[in-house]
Amino acid sequence: MVQYPFACEKEFPMEHPTNTALTALRNKFIPPGHGSITSSYVASEKGALIRDVEGREFIDFAGGIGTMNVGHSHPKVVAAIKDQAEKFTHTCFMVLPYEPAVALAEKLCNAAPGAFPKTALFINSGAEAVENAVKIARYYTKRPAVIAFENGYHGRTLLTMSLTGKVKPYKYGFGPFAPEIYRMPYAYCYRCAFGLSYPGCDVFCADYLKEFFINHVAAEKTAAVIAEPIAGEGGFITPPPEYFPKLAGICRDNGILFISDEIQTGMGRTGKMFAMEHWGVEPDLMTVAKSIAAGMPLSAVVGRKDIMEVVHPFGLGGTYGGNPIACRAGLAVMEILEEENLVRASEVLGKKIRERFEAFKRDHELIGDVRGMGAMAALELVKDRETKEPAADEAKALVRFCHDRGLIVLSCGSMGNIIRTLMPLIITDEQLDKGLSIIEEGLAAML
Ligand SMILES: Cc1ncc(COP(=O)(O)O)c(C=O)c1O
Repeated sequence: MVQYPFACEKEFPMEHPTNTALTALRNKFIPPGHGSITSSYVASEKGALIRDVEGREFIDFAGGIGTMNVGHSHPKVVAAIKDQAEKFTHTCFMVLPYEPAVALAEKLCNAAPGAFPKTALFINSGAEAVENAVKIARYYTKRPAVIAFENGYHGRTLLTMSLTGKVKPYKYGFGPFAPEIYRMPYAYCYRCAFGLSYPGCDVFCADYLKEFFINHVAAEKTAAVIAEPIAGEGGFITPPPEYFPKLAGICRDNGILFISDEIQTGMGRTGKMFAMEHWGVEPDLMTVAKSIAAGMPLSAVVGRKDIMEVVHPFGLGGTYGGNPIACRAGLAVMEILEEENLVRASEVLGKKIRERFEAFKRDHELIGDVRGMGAMAALELVKDRETKEPAADEAKALVRFCHDRGLIVLSCGSMGNIIRTLMPLIITDEQLDKGLSIIEEGLAAML
């Protein structure tokens, strides 16, 4: 047994850990601000399955919030991590660089949309990627302002929290916020901010950017527009096909950089490697994290070389950015996505989920909208289809019902009334069917 020089209430590892014992210890030593959706403590994970410390098994429709596209403990990722840990774990790329980072940068640049030359900057988290994308955009354009969106989510650091659209729990009590951030409505067709309907609206929400320059911030003071291709945390809001080509076009016409935040949508989640590919949009800068390295802390800004290279040496980076173990995991992820054809798998998975979700909608009044792309699918729950009153309590109850029946699934949305799927793309048909049936049972129980 390990002897610690510090007094410990329980030895690590506990001989017979239970969820209750770990919750009690956690409540003593981890602040409630770092909350958890469930009180199941993980013992092991494999593929799309999770086992807790008490031996209960769960099908995983959450994937560590969209991080495990290649599945939990994929043998290739495990082997890469082990191999790298035995070679070296850290030198700091800014002191002694290494091959895994260079190799992964090449792969990401080649995979990102746009035929132009690109480079990739590695950092640790999604928020850090967004922070750096904004730094680079401001440096390049020499302009201060950034336009973000209602229902957008970009992280929890000061700048990214400021960019984020949802107040509770992300911003509440944490102000004052970073300056020079402006927010316009997103293309939320189900709840159009302009009271219009698609396609008759002619995607006015994109053209509104031109009015925004008059009423909120001048185009020539705007460094970047940052958007998620599908608003993830904001409710899997899926814009119509004309939206991003129009929006990116207005940016281009005004010398504004277009940043696509692909942190949740990337690495095959939507049936394309990166979601902007659905609409043929080539962002100037793109942020990637989550499924990039199967759970290892890694993120990247991938962008146009001519933009990325303006920043002076050591203006970007950080102690852990592009950690060698994380980069090796990232290289394994790229290999797996290709070898196992997971981008295509996401599309197929999406069709199956969509079919079941549409059937749920026919049977259950509680469902107001079904949307998403590929395996990034969602159900918006409403108390009444006419008024569209959000059914947040019901969504919460459904998440709890699923957990009790052995399915981990997450809600999202500014009003917390949306159920989303972020399962590993390697999930088996049987696991998928079982998980979807649990959701169906839950919907039936809500009646
Ligand atoms: C679109 C998007 N951007 C940024 C982030 C922040 O990433 P991280 O939690 O790694 O900082 C997230 C996380 O959910 C996200 O979904």
